[in-house]
Amino acid sequence: MAVRRDPALSGKSSLKYGDALLLVNQYGRDAAWILHCKAVSLLAERYAAIFSSGYDIDADFVRTAALLHDIGRYKTHDPIMHGVEGYWLLTNLGHHREAFVCASHILCGLEREEAVRHGLPDQDFIPRTFEERLIPVIDSLVEFDRPTTLHARVASIQLRYQGNDGYLQKIEQAAEKAQRFMDHVNREFGISMENVAAETLSSEIV
Ligand SMILES: [Fe+2]
Repeated sequence: MAVRRDPALSGKSSLKYGDALLLVNQYGRDAAWILHCKAVSLLAERYAAIFSSGYDIDADFVRTAALLHDIGRYKTHDPIMHGVEGYWLLTNLGHHREAFVCASHILCGLEREEAVRHGLPDQDFIPRTFEERLIPVIDSLVEFDRPTTLHARVASIQLRYQGNDGYLQKIEQAAEKAQRFMDHVNREFGISMENVAAETLSSEIV
């Protein structure tokens, strides 16, 4: 399999994992959601190792951005606004690549119109690179800090947001995107992303 580099990826991450961990701990203050961030990051590290056989993947960035994807939860657990808060927090700290992931992991990507409506800059926040596309898919395979399946995760969200029809419709579209991504890499690498999640997170105390 040829090694490919996504042309949209601009350089390696400058933010070290240890510094990201300090940030999550500082803003999370022992909150339970930190465990979710750590589980997503641990799984990100595992997938990066697998996918590095076919992609020139920036494993440090995937691990670090996965750890920070939900940092906006320090301010709100709103299903969309926590991504916006994370974006502004990390942007103001100068961590622009990781900030983009905070915004673009919401619903597997926000189009310009929706981004602006929620207080983001006037641009698309659609994942552009393999790394950016991977993180929301990993997020969909982790329920709190435990492995799950995309199907079960969607069912859990549908239960939590019963009555919020607009959001639930968007969740279905996001799940279709995540499923397409999984089908593609499962075929290309001869794996099941869901099985990898189960194996990795069942055997680890996060
Ligand atoms: Fe999130």
